[in-house]
Amino acid sequence: MRILVTGGAGFIGSHTCVELLNAGHDIVVIDNLLNSHTESLNRVREITDVSFDFEHANLLDRDKLRIVFAEQNIDAVIHFAGLKAVAESVGKPLYYYHNNLASTIVLCEVMGEYGIKNLVFSSSATVYGQTNQVPIKEETNLVATNPYGRTKLMIEEILRDLYISDNEWSIALLRYFNPVGAHSSGLIGEDPNGIPNNLTPYITQVAVGKLPELKVFGNDYDTIDGTGVRDYIHVVDLAKGHLKALDKVMNNTGVEAYNLGTGKGYSVLEVLSAFERAIGKTIPYKIVDRRHGDVAVSYADPLKAKRELNWEAEKSLDDMCRDAWNWQKNNINGFKEEVIK
Ligand code: UFG
Repeated sequence: MRILVTGGAGFIGSHTCVELLNAGHDIVVIDNLLNSHTESLNRVREITDVSFDFEHANLLDRDKLRIVFAEQNIDAVIHFAGLKAVAESVGKPLYYYHNNLASTIVLCEVMGEYGIKNLVFSSSATVYGQTNQVPIKEETNLVATNPYGRTKLMIEEILRDLYISDNEWSIALLRYFNPVGAHSSGLIGEDPNGIPNNLTPYITQVAVGKLPELKVFGNDYDTIDGTGVRDYIHVVDLAKGHLKALDKVMNNTGVEAYNLGTGKGYSVLEVLSAFERAIGKTIPYKIVDRRHGDVAVSYADPLKAKRELNWEAEKSLDDMCRDAWNWQKNNINGFKEEVIK
């Protein structure tokens, strides 16, 4: 099959491109490179030894998108492209709503024009908001708590309406828990702009000496050691979930949401210890106040994905830490410089 991957130069996108190519699919990547680098695509080619087309374009550019569909024989779309920083979305809600919603609408309109109605969408566990019912099942009430989260939730609703209007559509909504780790080659990984918001890139940047210490956001939650608990999932497991979802959308119609998580939660201090084991040194940290908007505990019930997609996460927390560290230590500044070996 030939798959259009929007946002394919990003963290999860690039890992999914590797899995698609390894499985023998053709891909076409479209990315505006706002938050990613073409170097990640060069590395995808290096890992797989397969070449593919890349379109440097914004999904809001309908004419460009039409050309891609007219020229390439696309069978399905995996749609990663979107803005994703929670704090930024609070400051720039219109930018988030315009970019994430309008680009998805334009994409689906052009897909419809070309009769391509198979779509895998990057949603997020953020659509479960502040729920305290764990493990989180797909039927849990959906309540986003910030503009970024609302864009994910609104897109899910738009895609459900799209299917209601036209039953030929086949759509998987993949709700990711906390993607971490990197490809085992160390050639691709997470490359956040500026100071990381998320836990594991923050830890690896402390470990390489770019940041002085980890700030642990609160140790007075009702958890094993008082720190927040999350369902960390290896990005390669997550990428493989997209291939299973693709199989599903190619062989069925409808709209289905799936949790992609491991079903197991780890606290911040457990993750920190796992990194210390992987790296072989202690990582300085201090406890600070809770971060506004954080929940105590979040982990998936991943059984629906196991049952209906025949997918489950295989990699351990130690695998995630080893691979994240391998990526970080070989790419101190991410994709922004050549690898120093
Ligand atoms: N944490 C720290 N210090 C840090 C960063 C994080 O202690 O410097 C803690 C958080 O308080 C939380 C845990 O580490 O307990 C994980 O935090 P992340 O920021 O890595 O991840 P979140 O669970 O907050 O957010 C992730 C994605 C969001 C998504 C959200 C909802 O990053 O995009 O899950 O599922 F919206």
